[in-house]
Amino acid sequence: MKLLILNGVNLGRTGKREAGIYGGETLEAINGELLRFAQSRGAELDFYQSDLEGEICKKIGEAEGVYDGIVLNAGAYTHYSYAIRDAIAGIGVPVVEVHMSNVGAREEFRAKSVLMAVCRGEVLGFGKNSYKLAIESFLL
Ligand code: DQA
Repeated sequence: MKLLILNGVNLGRTGKREAGIYGGETLEAINGELLRFAQSRGAELDFYQSDLEGEICKKIGEAEGVYDGIVLNAGAYTHYSYAIRDAIAGIGVPVVEVHMSNVGAREEFRAKSVLMAVCRGEVLGFGKNSYKLAIESFLL
């Protein structure tokens, strides 16, 4: 099982921005923990983060034939990126949408995901553990 952990806009600043919401750990530290978690479960992980919508779409398009699944936290793009939605719809690789915060309990604009309809499922509200639960969902 080979998975891509794909993080979008502003996620590279995790640990530095809005720590009360997203926690004080950097993305590098979280990714390290995910790697150890996945290894213990026999899964292989690659990591990619970009603030650029087109780069995220490109990475999704390149996932075909390489990954068994994608764990995607698209950040704010979740709420309005039809380009990322189309990129997901255009591949045969299942995508699980992830959010560290409970987006349903925050501002109204965050409650809507334009990606969800083309994703296999969604995990939200468990901080960095949202990523672990999404990884786990591919191993069931
Ligand atoms: C987020 C939630 C989004 O609404 C926000 O724009 C983010 C992070 C989360 O992980 O909770 O950047 O995806």
